[in-house]
Amino acid sequence: MKFRLTCLIGYSLLVLTSVVTAHARTVTVLSDGWTFNLGDHPESISPEFDDSGWQRVTVPHDWAIKGPFDKKHDIQIAQIVQNQEAQATEKTGRTGALPHIGQAWYRNSFRLPHYQPGQRVLLLFEGAMSEPHVYLNGEKVGQWNYGYNYFYFDVTDQFLPDHENVLAVHLTNREQSSRWYPGAGLYRKVRVIVKNPQCIRQWGTQITTPEVTATEAKVRIRTTISGNNLTLVTTVVDPKGNMVASATDDSVVATDTVLSQDLTVSAPALWSPETPSLYTAISKLYAGDVLQDELTTVFGIRTIQYEPEKGFLLNGNVRKFKGVCLHHDLGPIGAAINVAALRRQLRILKDLGCDAIRSSHNMPSIEQLELCDEMGFMFLAESFDEWAKAKVRNGYHRFFESDAEKDIVNLVRATRNHPCIVMWSSGNEVPDQHGKQGVERAQRLQDLFHREDPTRPVTVGMDQVTAVMKSGFGAVMDIPGLNYRTHLYEQAFRAFPQGLLLGSETASTVSSRGIYKFPANLAKMKTYEDLQCSSYDLEACSWSNIPEEDFVLQDDKRWVIGEFVWTGFDYLGEPTPYDTAWPSRSSYFGICDLAGLPKDRYYLYRSRWNKQDDTLHILPHWNWAGREGKNTPVFVYTSYDSAELFVNGKSMGVRTKNSSTILNRYRLRWNDVKYEPGTLKVVAFDSDGRPAANAEIRTSGEPARLVLTADRTVLQANGEDLAFVTVSVVDDNGIPCPTATNQLSFDVQGQGTYRAACNGDATSLEMFHLPTMKLFSGKLVVLVQSTSEPGPIQLTVSAEQLADGVLELSSK
Ligand code: GAL
Repeated sequence: MKFRLTCLIGYSLLVLTSVVTAHARTVTVLSDGWTFNLGDHPESISPEFDDSGWQRVTVPHDWAIKGPFDKKHDIQIAQIVQNQEAQATEKTGRTGALPHIGQAWYRNSFRLPHYQPGQRVLLLFEGAMSEPHVYLNGEKVGQWNYGYNYFYFDVTDQFLPDHENVLAVHLTNREQSSRWYPGAGLYRKVRVIVKNPQCIRQWGTQITTPEVTATEAKVRIRTTISGNNLTLVTTVVDPKGNMVASATDDSVVATDTVLSQDLTVSAPALWSPETPSLYTAISKLYAGDVLQDELTTVFGIRTIQYEPEKGFLLNGNVRKFKGVCLHHDLGPIGAAINVAALRRQLRILKDLGCDAIRSSHNMPSIEQLELCDEMGFMFLAESFDEWAKAKVRNGYHRFFESDAEKDIVNLVRATRNHPCIVMWSSGNEVPDQHGKQGVERAQRLQDLFHREDPTRPVTVGMDQVTAVMKSGFGAVMDIPGLNYRTHLYEQAFRAFPQGLLLGSETASTVSSRGIYKFPANLAKMKTYEDLQCSSYDLEACSWSNIPEEDFVLQDDKRWVIGEFVWTGFDYLGEPTPYDTAWPSRSSYFGICDLAGLPKDRYYLYRSRWNKQDDTLHILPHWNWAGREGKNTPVFVYTSYDSAELFVNGKSMGVRTKNSSTILNRYRLRWNDVKYEPGTLKVVAFDSDGRPAANAEIRTSGEPARLVLTADRTVLQANGEDLAFVTVSVVDDNGIPCPTATNQLSFDVQGQGTYRAACNGDATSLEMFHLPTMKLFSGKLVVLVQSTSEPGPIQLTVSAEQLADGVLELSSK
């Protein structure tokens, strides 16, 4: 049996055989036992096909992440119109320079011993990259074009009880079908659902909270049901596990009937990023006394309002989105979904003070939404990067007319009960912003979202601001979202009728962790011979800006309802400003690098977003042999208003935030410091001018010792949990060596395996899955994966002329 049974709902495991006969719904995740092969193998549709020579893989799987990186994989002669390019040039690394283009097959076989005659069988895919065609026992059961969406097929007619059922999935990734690394393969979960014909339909519950006060919440649960003469009993369980409300509906229903039940919850615990309280609705469907189906739905009680005079209100309180845009790849493990990697990203973003995420530019994974519900992040769930007009030759425009509606329907129905989602986005910078048809499309898509979910507004990330002001496109949107174009905010606000504006995409400042360029000047599309960008955070693209240009709008304009910074983490592909240079294969836009390590900019955002913890961060590093006596500006990103800088004990003066320039308003800058090795110390003052905190960095000597720090030391023994171990190097005195580039090797023993490493260097062609990598700016991150056996795990990191670094982990 090649599957893992993850949940059995509706009966007790102790009485499995007797009760399962009539009443069960089972959900099986197909994770093990897959075989995989690149190329076109139509013969593999046949159940008899011998795939013993194929690679054995587990799903989620990303077939391209092991590379090797090569510019030939995604070389394009392209003019990127949205980047204001006047002519086509040769682009490399635009989609990550990884071998994701091509066709491939996945095969698996499964038995469902608990299946009872008459039951229905569904196959659910939570994303398949891309254009999946699905076959069961030799017959085609369906296809779905968009690689990011969730979809399912009823395969009851093809399913064979008491047999091995052979599943074959064909995927195609065309060249020039993406503007970033899309990943490749069955990169999200595949599930088999078995249920009775009298059942709750797939994605058949819709939970809203139409009335919420401090004392009471009305919870409306609409349940779509197949079958006749059924009774639906719904109970609500509070965050502490107490049953707090229930409703019963005795109904004679016909197929696809929607039952609406209103339940009352007293003294509701409201969901917010700060208080992510979750309720559970348990829906039980009976025929007489016999349980036919049971479904558990997690939801939250909260209100959202978007009001012209006030802005955005969550539970009646005005707040602005402190958000980041994220692409879906997880850096060194690619697009293959992994809960530990997602959770780590969110923990880092929590410390940043971030409270919202935009899934740019497509459907988020279900796992990411569950974590955002649980950990407290608001969510802007996006759908498309293209409508009918193309950005890339083989993009979504090929499917827009036929598929947009069903893609929106699946997005909304699969995710609408997540309290984290507070807004939908029907598109990002779609070229359809130009022209009358674009206005109609904007309206049509928004109407579809409203039809499926009347509770949340819809936005589009708009970059053609002058055009959308004229055409009426911007006026259509519930929430007008502006991508960059800070100089047009005022004008757009006045031109649009909504009375508020969202920074749907902001900044796109570029930087490489730990790399600083002199002189430290504001610049656009600045390039250097080493293909890196400066971490003085003064460089952006021709269309984008430094963070402060957004900050002033966020702080001074009541009607700006927040921002989503491009991006929280670097991602594979889109190596602007080096998309015509090689080697460069990942982005420079992240607040954190591709390994998840904070860049300096992290502390700039943290100094305003994180209201709980103080921030006091000095840049650059202080290892500038050869720059002695030369001007080496020092910036401090801090939550304090004022601080004094000392170089080897000598005061460089006090700086206080002020409104003379936008930089001076948000950063403390000492532009005329002459470099001398030693100690840079900053003392921050409280509002009474008293020293309140200090920080220092020191010039290091030669690398002497490796230091290993894990994000978690105890893993779950489930074969997929990950520890992220930051490896850095220090000198004899324990001072970090910020420019070290030592080549390291990794070895994992015990109940763990080496999964990947990443150093955040966008120009590195070292493969993540090989157990060796160079430090970049003195650091890298190693990912250690648990096996399914509990026990101790040991990571050893070694490098020539350095003592080994050893870290003990365990799993249970
Ligand atoms: C935006 C676009 C993003 C990304 C970004 C880079 O225009 O929506 O997908 O390309 O620019 O600055």
